Amino acid sequence: MRAPAKVNLHLGVGPLRPDGYHDVITVLQAVSLFDDVSATSVDPPRFHDPGPSTTDGNGGSDGNGRSSGDIVVTVEVSGEGADPASLGPATSTPEVSIVPTGRDNIAVRAAHLVAEAAGITSERVHLTLTKGIPVAAGMAGGSADAAAALVACDALWQTGLDRATLTRLAAQLGSDVPFPLAGGTALGTGRGEQLTDVLATGEYYWVFALADGGLSTPAVYKEFDRLTEGKLRTGPTPADDVLAALRTGDPGQLGAALVNDLQPAALRLRPSLRRVLEAGRELGAVGAIVSGSGPTCAFLTAGAQESIALAASLAGMGVARAVRRASGPASGARMVEGAGEA
Ligand code: C5P
Repeated sequence: MRAPAKVNLHLGVGPLRPDGYHDVITVLQAVSLFDDVSATSVDPPRFHDPGPSTTDGNGGSDGNGRSSGDIVVTVEVSGEGADPASLGPATSTPEVSIVPTGRDNIAVRAAHLVAEAAGITSERVHLTLTKGIPVAAGMAGGSADAAAALVACDALWQTGLDRATLTRLAAQLGSDVPFPLAGGTALGTGRGEQLTDVLATGEYYWVFALADGGLSTPAVYKEFDRLTEGKLRTGPTPADDVLAALRTGDPGQLGAALVNDLQPAALRLRPSLRRVLEAGRELGAVGAIVSGSGPTCAFLTAGAQESIALAASLAGMGVARAVRRASGPASGARMVEGAGEA
């Protein structure tokens, strides 16, 4: 199963809620950077049991605090960011995590949730994650892994969970997980997990400047709280300008409308990103923004040719660890032939 990265075209953030989350109004676009997840049965004993699951010591919490019986999930990660050294020197900073391979891997948690929702009490599955989405970059790579693992296990175990159930499980795993299931362009409300389709026309060509290391989403939200303390009187900024621009299909209009309320916080934590954003603007990007909680910088360009030129120039300037091109909107999690064999 292949699931896409995302970029927030609009990320309006409200004050901190009592549950530790923030209300957001966000517009998300799936872009053509993908993670592939394959799920393989290791040892096929399986018992469907609609009643409460039994635990025999191999199970335990699924990360959401419930017992998941004799479900064994192993995981192997390769590709972009699997090797910590590939992420550059800043990965040694404590707030940055590399992809975990244990029970705290979000794809592993997704597999346990599918088993639990389907009443499967005994199953052994091996997940292979092939990462094309940069890790801890503000592009929802972990969420894409979780979305792909949900549909991969659903397909492997022929559990036939409906879309609404998969979306509910996705929201349990993380605020950003329902979106890579759906793909396309969507409006997200609540903590970002409640999605509605938006009317969007056109194809958009993006350039992403990847930074050394990652930024932790909770740390960026915390910095946002510090910067806005006592100043936020209303809820999150509405996304009217971005929604209007998406109806026109004009990249120039969309570029001018991009909003990210987390950007000042990300720039405080990573001041060097200012120079990256500036470089992209000077080189002709029609929009320049920190992607989600960062540290990736996203540049919208006027078209495919312009994106090739911008990517080459940015790479030449050496302001980024790596540069990627992608287009959007991309499809949500789907089965592909030969995924994960790269
Ligand atoms: O939902 P998810 O587990 O991805 O969120 C990670 C963290 O990001 C949360 O624990 C919270 O600190 C922050 N967050 C937030 N408001 C949101 C989404 C995430 O404060 N709407």
